[in-house]
Amino acid sequence: MSNDKEIITILLVDDVAEVRESIKKMLSFEPDFKYVGGAGTGREGVQMAKELKPDIVMMDINMPDMDGLEAAKHISKALPATGIIMMSVQNDQDYMNRAMLAGARFFLAKPVDMDPLHNTVRSVFQTHVKPTKQMLERISASASTSVIEYSEDEGKLGNRAGHVIVVYSPQGGVGKTMLATSLASGLMKEGIKTLLVDSDLEFGDVGAFLDLRSQRTIVDAIEEVASLDDPDYFDSMVATHNSGIKVLLAPPRASIGMDLRQNQPHMVAEVIKQVRYFYDFVVVDASRQLDMLNSTLFEISSKIVLITQPSLTSVKNTRMVLALFEENGFTQERIAVVVNKGIEKPTNKIVPPIEKIQAYLKRPIEGMIPLVDDVLILSAINRGVPLIASDRDQNKTPLKQLHQLSDHLYATLMGEATEQKIKNTPQQQQPQKRGGVLGGLFGNR
Ligand SMILES: Nc1ncnc2c1ncn2[C@@H]1O[C@H](COP(=O)(O)OP(=O)(O)OP(=O)(O)O)[C@@H](O)[C@H]1O
Ligand SMILES: [Mg+2]
Repeated sequence: MSNDKEIITILLVDDVAEVRESIKKMLSFEPDFKYVGGAGTGREGVQMAKELKPDIVMMDINMPDMDGLEAAKHISKALPATGIIMMSVQNDQDYMNRAMLAGARFFLAKPVDMDPLHNTVRSVFQTHVKPTKQMLERISASASTSVIEYSEDEGKLGNRAGHVIVVYSPQGGVGKTMLATSLASGLMKEGIKTLLVDSDLEFGDVGAFLDLRSQRTIVDAIEEVASLDDPDYFDSMVATHNSGIKVLLAPPRASIGMDLRQNQPHMVAEVIKQVRYFYDFVVVDASRQLDMLNSTLFEISSKIVLITQPSLTSVKNTRMVLALFEENGFTQERIAVVVNKGIEKPTNKIVPPIEKIQAYLKRPIEGMIPLVDDVLILSAINRGVPLIASDRDQNKTPLKQLHQLSDHLYATLMGEATEQKIKNTPQQQQPQKRGGVLGGLFGNR
């Protein structure tokens, strides 16, 4: 439910005049909703959104001129706080994924009914529009503070590099957690601060991998997102591994995670945005869904480490994900494809060799972590250490390859950061780096 007297402004984009009329009527029953305009094409919708800056845009998908997905991309880029609700008769998964990647916050099936309409508008307003507006206000307020103050107070307000590395695969069990924990460890060089976030909200197992327990988890960080500008306070929410890595753990119960994923999916990214500049690297162990939660994480990422396995299904899925990223304007250098459980010289035809995978994906493989004896991994887990740190001999397989990968990521990302640090104040860095607080990702087209 919305708080008292908050007026939610709504723009409607649909090419069918009758649909606009009927939705306008449904909106008019609620005193806290204000219909600010209706557009008949995507292009007109983008123009009106930019002029009227509504809280909510209700957007049809199939329209002449510019379709709703394209229009949503423009709007989410220009107006990150605006909540876009997609409406379509096609409510299959593929459409929803596309809508989410285009920056939509919710999907309503057509014909639109009154109750879901009212609930959705309020929920998108409360969970997306309001927090994003507040955050933008805070950023612009702090941007006006002088540069000198920030450099004197180094670290306090967060002027580290803030690179977000999302470790992702559309498949389960491919080694996301193994790699995320290893990267977090491998990236922790001297003077470098790293945070590991377990965003697998239902089945997060970073805690189990690293033998960490904590009273406080990502749930607390989400609830108290407005207080995270104090690094010491945020520190009280993270667990510290004895190697020094800070970990923001997943919720204690799957039901809490499911609830968050459904009702506040963008909040994980919101938390990371608040704290990223307290760290040089934020490594995210992502879940495998191609949903709103992950799409907001992709949006804020500096790098997506896409894991694939040397099997035909895995490589095919990876190719599909790469195509989806490309359609949404992600540049190639944003994504690092890594083969895990790789086999150097496969002896049977079922396992494709690296060159074949590379050729099929039409892009270089940036890392190959060989398939190793499971005992090695299990013993690392039993001792609660990241695989990369499980043996003294760092030249041993797969420690060597894990180090090579983390060094490679370190070099590509930190080279850029050092330049940025000299040029910008921390607050200016944030919007400039990704070209926008929320919708920057889609600006690469
Ligand atoms: N290079 C490797 N060689 C051999 N086994 C591996 C390798 N990497 C990971 N594994 C094993 O694969 C299993 C899955 O690894 P992990 O839990 O990291 O995957 P995940 O992608 O996080 O899975 P989930 O989808 O359940 O979160 C583990 O049992 C781990 O021991
Ligand atoms: Mg996992």
